[in-house]
Amino acid sequence: MRTICVLFFCFVSCSCQLQSTLEQFRRIFNLNNSPPVDPSVNLKKEYDFIVIGAGSGGSVVANRLSEHPDWSVLLLEAGKDEIFLTDVPLLAALQTVTSYNWGYKSEKMRTACLGLVGSKCNIPRGKGLGGTSIINFLLYTRGNRLDFDQWENMGNPGWGYEEVLPYFIKSENCTLCDDIDRDYHGFDGYLNVEHSSYNSPILKAFLESAESMRYKNVDINGGDGLGFSKAQATMKGGRRCSASKAFLKPILHRSNLHVSIESRVTKILIDPATKQAYGVEFLKNKKKYRILAKKEVILSAGSINSPHLLMLSGVGPKEDLERAGIPTIQDLKVGYNLQDHMAMSTLVFLVNESITISDLEMQRPRFIYDYIINGKGPYTIPGGALGYGFVQTKYNNTSDYPDIELVLGAGGLNGDVYGSLRNLLGIPNSLFNRVYLPHLGTPSFSIATVLLRPKSKGRVLIKDSNALHWPIFRPNYFQEEEDVDTMVEGIKMAIAMTKTKYFQKYNARLNPIPFPGCESLPFATDEYWRCSIRHVSTTLGHQVGTCKMGPKTDERAVVDAELKVHGIGGLRVVDGSVMPNIVAGHTNAVIMMIGEKAADLIKSKWRNV
Ligand SMILES: Cc1cc2nc3c(=O)[nH]c(=O)nc-3n(C[C@H](O)[C@H](O)[C@H](O)COP(=O)(O)OP(=O)(O)OC[C@H]3O[C@@H](n4cnc5c(N)ncnc54)[C@H](O)[C@@H]3O)c2cc1C
Ligand SMILES: *[C@@H]1O[C@H](CO)[C@@H](O)[C@H](O)[C@H]1NC(C)=O
Ligand SMILES: *[C@@H]1O[C@H](CO)[C@@H](O)[C@H](O)[C@H]1NC(C)=O
Ligand SMILES: *[C@@H]1O[C@H](CO)[C@@H](O)[C@H](O)[C@H]1NC(C)=O
Ligand SMILES: *[C@@H]1O[C@H](CO)[C@@H](O)[C@H](O)[C@H]1NC(C)=O
Repeated sequence: MRTICVLFFCFVSCSCQLQSTLEQFRRIFNLNNSPPVDPSVNLKKEYDFIVIGAGSGGSVVANRLSEHPDWSVLLLEAGKDEIFLTDVPLLAALQTVTSYNWGYKSEKMRTACLGLVGSKCNIPRGKGLGGTSIINFLLYTRGNRLDFDQWENMGNPGWGYEEVLPYFIKSENCTLCDDIDRDYHGFDGYLNVEHSSYNSPILKAFLESAESMRYKNVDINGGDGLGFSKAQATMKGGRRCSASKAFLKPILHRSNLHVSIESRVTKILIDPATKQAYGVEFLKNKKKYRILAKKEVILSAGSINSPHLLMLSGVGPKEDLERAGIPTIQDLKVGYNLQDHMAMSTLVFLVNESITISDLEMQRPRFIYDYIINGKGPYTIPGGALGYGFVQTKYNNTSDYPDIELVLGAGGLNGDVYGSLRNLLGIPNSLFNRVYLPHLGTPSFSIATVLLRPKSKGRVLIKDSNALHWPIFRPNYFQEEEDVDTMVEGIKMAIAMTKTKYFQKYNARLNPIPFPGCESLPFATDEYWRCSIRHVSTTLGHQVGTCKMGPKTDERAVVDAELKVHGIGGLRVVDGSVMPNIVAGHTNAVIMMIGEKAADLIKSKWRNV
């Protein structure tokens, strides 16, 4: 990993000496010629709107609200600005060892992550302008039509598929050329969506093998709910297009928008008598600030930090707040309904030709050059994922609604020489040495199985009243046996794909070394997979649902269909935490859609005031 960084910087400096024009320099380091954010912005005492958190949700809201020239907007972000390294799509896993990751861990559970470091799950969350979209895997998906219809049926008018689709389109600048459903895409939004220019015979095998199993090759962000696609990615010219690059950098010149980085909000100010939110408290350079909001406070700190901040501010389950010594202003089920996507990313398939990638392979100067100078080559593979497929198991095969996603990885864990993937997933070195090291240097790929519609639900709880202490993260992954059943079927589908002639021409075979802790079970039986799922499956980082959207009659609801916190004035939540149910897809674009829709709701309230 360190070698890759050094090589990168060498290359950048060499190529800069060779072609030392300012333009070249700009192009390499600064996509969009985006200016850096001034860390010492002069803050005012009061703004119309204060947005907490510059992630996928917050960046969109700050952009859209500051379109109104008479409204002043303050965007507060705990982390820093992005850098050159966070832009490299293939190196996504590397970001989790940097300060761009909050670095949370789950509580110990009896049902999951048993074979991982400390028997806990790693819970990476992004910290910086762009939030988790700075460390994510760039995969662009929108979830299934039925996800949103279900949200609406749960008592949230305006959130059905037909009503949210225009907001997906509004955000998007689609630059995909081939085989897309044009009616479903946007072509002049802020968010660039493209394919990696890199093509691999493994992707071809994946798509062909899917077809032989009756799954079409489709535009999964179009009209089809099931099928396989080459990965669509939030990328521009082969570099990461984070929420910040898309929605903040192009508008930093707006004088009514102040962006303050390294500003950690510790409390939302709420008048206990009127239950009106009127400002925030935050720490910046060890100094405490109190800034007021004339119109609204918008909480976009993500699915772990948003519920935590609400609880610190007196909004949450009364019994928990009392335990932490915080006076309750509004008793709500904050932190409940936590849902996430677990994945088996640890299955490696060995092949007999160098058609895959590995850390060693990636040191080739040609690849590094191609990325830096042209924005092309294998470094532009989004998070290492070449393609994805949305499929159904026998447990839910009734409609056009997948319960499993299969993600094709261009390489396998046995190629993770520098340990960035191991680090992301929390794979202990002992496990790596036993299961993967014997195949070091053998070309391999992976197919990760993702449980799209889990039944298990978890919680985020407050530990104590110190805002700088971590909340408790209790995800309860695989607590429901049905989740394990579905996952087993998904794994068997992944393996079946590799047995078709399309993969067999590379002699694809599952790594035969069993996972520690499951060796006593006959290899590759259902019982073996059940054990493996509980030992070595990991989160895809899609935590949602902890400030659930729903009507007053829903006892778990925290915000209403306009994302206003029940019982509190002047306070909305706009991020992944408001999802009443997790979507059957990756969450970044969905949260940007939530940001777009929220901004319109806020505008329609204040436009004529
Ligand atoms: C490893 C990984 C891979 C992923 N891959 C994909 C993928 O390929 N495709 C996809 O669609 N999704 C992916 N995701 C998920 C997706 O990126 C997230 O769901 C999404 O970015 C979350 O958006 P958000 O606005 O809810 O929160 P975030 O983007 O996390 O934003 C919250 C922001 O608030 C800031 N903040 C928090 N607390 C405070 C505070 N007290 N004061 C000030 N600021 C604060 C945080 O620093 C952060 O910037 C991945 C996630 C992970 C972890
Ligand atoms: C959309 O992408 C194309 C190709 O990268 C680019 O030329 C265009 O400027 C982008 N549009 C917007 C609105 O960003
Ligand atoms: C759905 O699953 C059931 C139970 O396994 C099976 O009998 C049926 O054939 C499946 N239907 C389809 C369309 O795959
Ligand atoms: C299948 O999915 C539908 C839609 O989400 C759900 O109502 C139903 O309960 C599911 N069936 C099973 C057996 O899980
Ligand atoms: C890989 O294995 C397949 C199937 O056994 C075989 O046809 C092919 O020739 C092999 N390729 C190489 C490069 O050995």
